[in-house]
Amino acid sequence: MSEEPESASDVVRRDRFSGGPARGFLSSLAADERIFAADLAVDRAHVVMLAEQGIVGDDEAAAILDALDAVEADGFSALPDGEDVHAAIETAVVDRAGDVGGKMHTARSRNDEVATCIRHRLREDVLDAVEATVALREALAEAAEAHAEIVMPGYTHLQPAQPTTVGHYLLSYEQAVARDTARLFDAYERVNRSPLGAAAFAGTPFDVDRERTADLLGFDGGHASEASVTSSQAKRSDGVVSNSMDAVSTRDFLVEVVAALANLAATVSGFAEDLVVFSNKGLAELSDDYSSTSSIMPQKKNPDTLELVRATAGDAAAGLNGLLTTLKGLPRAYNRDLQKATPHAWETVDDVTEAVAVAAGAAATATWDEEALAEAAGEGFSTATGVADLLAMAGLPFRKAHEMVAKASESGADYAALDAAAEDVLGDSLSSYVEREAVEAALDPVESVAARDSTGGPAPDAVAAGLAAAQDGIAADERALGDRRESLAAARDRLHEEVSQYA
Ligand code: ARG
Repeated sequence: MSEEPESASDVVRRDRFSGGPARGFLSSLAADERIFAADLAVDRAHVVMLAEQGIVGDDEAAAILDALDAVEADGFSALPDGEDVHAAIETAVVDRAGDVGGKMHTARSRNDEVATCIRHRLREDVLDAVEATVALREALAEAAEAHAEIVMPGYTHLQPAQPTTVGHYLLSYEQAVARDTARLFDAYERVNRSPLGAAAFAGTPFDVDRERTADLLGFDGGHASEASVTSSQAKRSDGVVSNSMDAVSTRDFLVEVVAALANLAATVSGFAEDLVVFSNKGLAELSDDYSSTSSIMPQKKNPDTLELVRATAGDAAAGLNGLLTTLKGLPRAYNRDLQKATPHAWETVDDVTEAVAVAAGAAATATWDEEALAEAAGEGFSTATGVADLLAMAGLPFRKAHEMVAKASESGADYAALDAAAEDVLGDSLSSYVEREAVEAALDPVESVAARDSTGGPAPDAVAAGLAAAQDGIAADERALGDRRESLAAARDRLHEEVSQYA
């Protein structure tokens, strides 16, 4: 990266493998900026462990740790050229500390090093993604509470189907995104394990303490007490990826994270599509902050932002596909293909987290047109099912009631049409089955909603119960997120403390 590659010849390549014409092709240095801080932490934990195990002397460790401080202070852009960030940092350490710097890479390989760095950094990214999902759920729950009983049309096949409420609709997405949060937490548990100490794949004759480096880096394999982590997994968590060959080879943790993100993006794309449709129908209005306009048509207010949220699901699916295709059929153990697997995860986590934040903002600021929603809620004989339910409740087989109401729907959506159809299909007047007032009530969207009070349904009490459950879930996931963030921060402090003993 610096302009003086001559003085800083890569300690890994030396003169023989300078890279030749494929030098740039081989290098992951630019993409590795993302794991610069992770690599410094991994280097420090490794050196502390080497000193504690008597593999390097305390003064040697001190010299290396000093050099790492200087490398950190100079920043990523000051690194010498190198095949990757691991080689470049090692070169910089040797440049500063002299030959003793060459002891840093004792009892490890870039294979276990890079896998550890990716996991170290990805933990933060997964928690950021979790935080975005929780914020989206908060926005959805708040809007659901504010519009709990506002009646709106519910659609199937994009046709008016049955009336529901804005609260019921928004909670449907809160519940779906809650599962996305859970999937991310679940993936986090398996990301949060350390491959360090596996060396190239075949272990090392040095007496390394893999649990110690795992602990110094906060790899604790998850939280046994959290509901979103299954207990069988929690019991197995010892903080390290044990088998050294698996430890350096696997990127299944990237697949899990990217799959969870792709699923999340697919969920959110549906919400974005709904908002595009609702704003198009005049049922909801996006705030100007989440809209754009046309460069030529001055009257336009377009839902571009939500369209980009919708499209992000395509990118996430592509990321998952790219990742799996790269990993498929790779032989044991390390292969350089793995270098190209990682960026799929970085891109997907960045894109999806941003899209989720945008969706949360749009959900929080959209306004709902109560009048237009109420009017649309009754369109297309959307209360037909409620009338059939009413007849079935009076003892008529539902199939017969369905036939009768279907017949009525051909001529109208009112009492007269239903009565005529009853004569026609059932051979009797409608009032011989149910009272007229009950039919009129069933035809009213508000009454129709109120009647559907089954668990998870749109009736006000059911929505209130759903809202309370959503709020409990959000609070629990906020605590789980806070616990994980705290345990990472505690590990950072622990490592800092240990390193400072060598000053
Ligand atoms: N930059 C590489 C990666 O991301 C580091 C590992 C190189 N190891 C090797 N055996 N060539 O995978």
